[in-house]
Amino acid sequence: MLDKLKEIEKAASLEINDANSMPELEAIRVKFLGKKGHLTSILRGLGSLTAEERPIAGAAANETRQKTENLIEIKSKQLWETLLNVKLKTEKLDITLPGIHKEIGHLHPLRSAENKMVEIFVRMGFDVVEGPEVESTHNNFDALNSPADHPSRDMTDTFYISEGVVLRTQTSPVQIRAMQKRKPPIRIISPGRVYRCDAPDGTHSPVFHQLEGLVIDRHITLGDLKGTLDLFAQSMFGEGTKTRLRPHNFPFTEPSVEVDFSCFACGGKGCRLCKSEGWIEMLGAGMVHPNVLAGCGIDPDIYSGFAFGMGIDRVAMLKYNIRDLRLIFENDVRLIGQF
Ligand code: DAH
Repeated sequence: MLDKLKEIEKAASLEINDANSMPELEAIRVKFLGKKGHLTSILRGLGSLTAEERPIAGAAANETRQKTENLIEIKSKQLWETLLNVKLKTEKLDITLPGIHKEIGHLHPLRSAENKMVEIFVRMGFDVVEGPEVESTHNNFDALNSPADHPSRDMTDTFYISEGVVLRTQTSPVQIRAMQKRKPPIRIISPGRVYRCDAPDGTHSPVFHQLEGLVIDRHITLGDLKGTLDLFAQSMFGEGTKTRLRPHNFPFTEPSVEVDFSCFACGGKGCRLCKSEGWIEMLGAGMVHPNVLAGCGIDPDIYSGFAFGMGIDRVAMLKYNIRDLRLIFENDVRLIGQF
């Protein structure tokens, strides 16, 4: 038996020495030391030995196992190192190569402007509500006190879907929906798309964006409108921005005003942006007409309110210095990528 053990030891040592890979080495281990391996089958024969022979043979078998295991361990380390060296040589990483550039998306300037506008009014306590873009002529015109012969109703100005149904020409019909649904106090803004039959040019587009505002409560005055717009102007365009009201005429407000902001580019001195005026026309507004309140079931003797409508595209163009309205809608990434 001792001779057999020596033979196994020798054979294993030769095979281990010749092994070229980890799987090969593992196969050798199983072949000699595994449950059905050579050494195990020899150990089975221990039973047939005499009591004196058994411990000697047992010790010798253990020694063979130990020696073979050591050889495998050493070979395994060698193989691993060779493998590592090959990897280090072949898998070189050149960290001086430029990285792979990933394009990251971002907001369109129009959306950035809208988000900022909405955020300012939400901070003042306004709720954001939305209305449909396909609207009844009743909500878009009649309920807003627009006379039946008002030029804006004309087919050449308004997109008619069918008799009595239009693409809304303004966000003002959302006022009507809000007043029909809610009871005062009402304090809402409504951003969204509006449509008019205009050929596209630097300042016109058949689709553009407005932000409507409406406040209804007891004792609301034009002073509240001015204060609200002052805060908006300062938050949007900078601390020093002032507002100025000029008399105007809208069917749904009385009195009606147009509102200018002092030019934030020159601080009011006069420059190219404000065409030397020092002021930039920003929005339409006024005190909600008693007819409009009454039509929505709100008693004009108890409640009053102000409303305003502002072009979001216009604010975006001014804020981001975009000179042509068409650029907002063309979605040229060379332009959008700058914001
Ligand atoms: N709807 C008007 C427009 O499209 C803007 C406007 C003016 C809205 C006065 C209002 C307002 O709510 O009170 O030109």
